Order: sequence, then structure tokens, then C-alpha cells
Amino acid sequence: MNLDYGPLSTLFYDASKPVGYSLNGDLAFYLKQAAQCGGRLLEPAVGTGRMLIPLLEAGFEVDGLDRSADMLARCREHCQARGLSAQLLQADMAAFALPLRYAGILLPAGSFCLITELEQARAALACFHHHLLPGGRLVLDIEPPPSTPWQPSSTRLTLANGRTLTLDCSVANFEPEQQRYELALHYRLMEGEQVVAEEQQPFPLRWYHAEQMQRLLETSGFEVESVLSDYRVSGVQSGAEMLTFIARRKK
Ligand SMILES: C[S@@+](CC[C@H](N)C(=O)[O-])C[C@H]1O[C@@H](n2cnc3c(N)ncnc32)[C@H](O)[C@@H]1O
Repeated sequence: MNLDYGPLSTLFYDASKPVGYSLNGDLAFYLKQAAQCGGRLLEPAVGTGRMLIPLLEAGFEVDGLDRSADMLARCREHCQARGLSAQLLQADMAAFALPLRYAGILLPAGSFCLITELEQARAALACFHHHLLPGGRLVLDIEPPPSTPWQPSSTRLTLANGRTLTLDCSVANFEPEQQRYELALHYRLMEGEQVVAEEQQPFPLRWYHAEQMQRLLETSGFEVESVLSDYRVSGVQSGAEMLTFIARRKK
């Protein structure tokens, strides 16, 4: 069991959402947001660099941090292969200390929902606040509450080396009163019909209601400038797959 993204989940993420892959238009949106920050950026939960690398290629100065050693290692490989440099740190987004202060902190892909405890969510926002310059921007995605019960799913990817990587996903736990659910992820790497490696990952998630997120931000020293649905529509739309909060650190 691995709570963090391990070798196979990293391989799966990188193969299914490679560098520069846009999730429902998030890449163009975050590139625009980065330009509006006007200074050095930090991406907590940077993963394999799907978003970080296009930001670096566009000329932004961006640092990243992530809890998973495997995701970070892949991110470093991607940077090296392109001659890009970024400071990448293995750390928890709810407890990190860097010597710099940033003009912007970007948290795409709903990664904030990977924080399942309210106390940890407050700790992460306190860390973001501490690492932002006064007036600095925090742009953060959250996934709204799931509207339909999650169905078990199976995905099969063919890798460049001809091997197959499968992911079976089911709901292990659903606790609506706690705004939490946990997926059970099971990865298998196959050579022909033979399983050559396996990985199981419990994947706990929390959903945050829009008003709750707004309150969390305000009580953490941020002023919410706007909320967008699916990167395109202003405000909270019912049926949106992603809500994005654009907030500023109060001076
Ligand atoms: C869905 S991926 C997103 C990666 C990248 N930001 C993107 O947009 O493609 C989520 C990442 O969050 C990291 N992560 C989860 N919980 C974390 C935590 N508490 N602190 C730091 N990183 C965390 C995981 O290791 C994983 O790399």
C-alpha cells in the first residue's frame, strides 16, 4: 500500500496526462493567470510537471513542491530533457518552509481536494499565505461535491515500450457527512498477459463547498477576487466540474 503516488501511479499519470496536456482548458487559463501574477511562482503538488513545464517554457520562473518522490523524480527528468531548471522540493503542501516569497501560487487539477482534514486545509492556506508577497495571488481549483455515485472503472493504456498499464478504480468509502470519500486504485503493469508489477493506492479525497472554500480563504488572510466554473464562466454554476478561486493575500 502506498498513500502517495508511487512508481506505477506516476507512470499512469504521466502517460494519461503528459506534459502540456490540458484538463478541460486549464493550461491556457493558468498561463494567463501566471502572466497576471507578474513575478516568481510556486506550484504546490506539482506532480510530473504537466503544468509546470509549459509555464517554464513560456518564460515564467516557477518552483514546485510535491510529497511524492516518484512524481518529483519524473518532473526532474522532464525538466532535464528540455534543458529547463526549476527548484523542486519534496514537501507537504500543508507544512513547508521556503526562503522565498512568491507573486503567485498556482494549485491546478483539484489537488487541494487531496487534503482531507480541515485542519490540514487551514495549515496549507497558512503556508500559502506566508509564502506570498503582500497582494500576491493564489489561484486554486476545487472539485465540487460528486453529483452522481462513482461507478467502478477500468482503464488500459499502452505504453511506448509496448507494455500495458491498467488501472482499476472503485469507491472504498463514502462519508458524505464528512465531505470525504476514498477511492481504491489498483495499478497493474503487464508484459503481454503477464503482470510484472502491481501497486495499490488508497486515494482519499474531500470536497469543499464553494461558500466553505470562500470562508476558509477569508479566514486565512485572503480576499477572494473571483470564482470561475470550468475556467470559462464567472461564478458558481451548477454542474461545473471544477471551481477556481482567484484570491489575493491581504496586505
Ligand atoms: C493530481 S496530481 C496534480 C499534479 C499537477 N499539479 C498537475 O496539475 O498535473 C496531484 C499531486 O499532488 C501531490 N500531493 C498530494 N497531496 C500532497 C500534499 N499534501 N503535499 C504535497 N503534494 C501532495 C501528489 O503527490 C501528486 O503529485
